[in-house]
Amino acid sequence: MNAVEVIRHKRDGKALSAEEIAWFVTAYTHGDVTDYQMAAFCMAVVWRGMTREETVALTLAMLHSGEELHARDVLTPVADKHSTGGVGDKVTLAVAPLVAACGLPIAKMSGRGLGHTGGTVDKLESISGLRTELGRDEFLALVKRHGLALSAQSSELAPADGMMYALRDVTATVDSIPLIAASIMSKKLAVGPSHLLLDVKVGSGAFMKTETAARRLARAMVQIGEDAGVRTVAALSSMEQPLGRAVGNALEVAEAVDILRGTGPADVTELCLHETATLLVMAGIADGEPDGHARAERAVRDGSGLAKLAEVVAAQGGDARQIEDTSLLPKAPVRVEIGAPQSGYITAMDAERIGMASVRLGAGRMHKGDPIDPAVGLVLLAKAGDWLDAGAPLVEVHARSEDDVQAIRDGLLGAYTWGDEAPALTPLLLGSVGRESRRTRKSATRS
Ligand code: URA
Repeated sequence: MNAVEVIRHKRDGKALSAEEIAWFVTAYTHGDVTDYQMAAFCMAVVWRGMTREETVALTLAMLHSGEELHARDVLTPVADKHSTGGVGDKVTLAVAPLVAACGLPIAKMSGRGLGHTGGTVDKLESISGLRTELGRDEFLALVKRHGLALSAQSSELAPADGMMYALRDVTATVDSIPLIAASIMSKKLAVGPSHLLLDVKVGSGAFMKTETAARRLARAMVQIGEDAGVRTVAALSSMEQPLGRAVGNALEVAEAVDILRGTGPADVTELCLHETATLLVMAGIADGEPDGHARAERAVRDGSGLAKLAEVVAAQGGDARQIEDTSLLPKAPVRVEIGAPQSGYITAMDAERIGMASVRLGAGRMHKGDPIDPAVGLVLLAKAGDWLDAGAPLVEVHARSEDDVQAIRDGLLGAYTWGDEAPALTPLLLGSVGRESRRTRKSATRS
């Protein structure tokens, strides 16, 4: 086969065969297809899309580029959850221990921050000593012993995704439903859970800006999972404004602990309880959503979710005292409160701009490989729908220096839209795709 022919077929809108796709991806991982050819291929996919069969073939080709863990052969049931990425999204840090505390083991490999979105591994690494680079045997042994392991994505799993993602990031080819679906699902299938919950984010802070696009992505991923024998549900949730109040690594770990203590912001707590309940229902541990919800709430009330997080942090070499007392987490030397620039309702908060302000403080990376500052970030003191008088507390900036605060100030304030009328807020939970489908839309709650 010939790389130019494969690219030309896709460029001209033809459906590629599974053999062509497998050959192209394999040749790329072996260095026989160049980066510029893969970039041209990805751009052709962005423009021309892929059929369901092509998307499955691309996922399998990426999956077969590396090792597979077959977690469900070691332990069944074993769950996984994945978010398509958002701002202030600390949900995994609370849902994973809650699910494990309710008796469903969870084998969780996570990524690092990407663009304006945070990554669970960066957040976890704000806990002193915590190791996230776990080998296959250690990862599976932790899941067996503790019902939970929190690992960085192994470079041995779906390495084609790592190579392609780095290219897509710098060639404007991230926003493509088949490419995102294959990227996420190749990594998830490589771990091999029996049950998978996908949190597909929609809105200004998400890769999918509209509910229609998010639903198409959700359907594509659910089909791939079900075809591979993994019970898969995709829950759609709004990312029109950041989740909860904390944006930044240690700040988000502290907020996850608040959620596990039952004192977290209402919006992110609602999402965590919903996701926990959904996974418990999917695995047959809970008898319907209300029972799943009640079990999740019990794991908050009796402290077993928080105890599970502390147990796993200690098992991975981390300082569990920082979970018991979050004031021991890294702290930024400068804290500045910014007041509302005018009186009015906050009618919208651009989550992407808020995420970028946090990245610029050092909570995320401007360039690949940049170090992360675990202590810096933002605490949102008001959210969309709140009325503020001019000068009232709006956001607290946690920074290395006063200069850093000044550098982000205008961009951050530009993320807020103000008005005289209370806005109609987008519901947080937007339904789901897959066998645990919820037909109703719940109304939004504010934090
Ligand atoms: N997250 C991924 O893992 N891959 C994508 O392509 C987008 C978000």
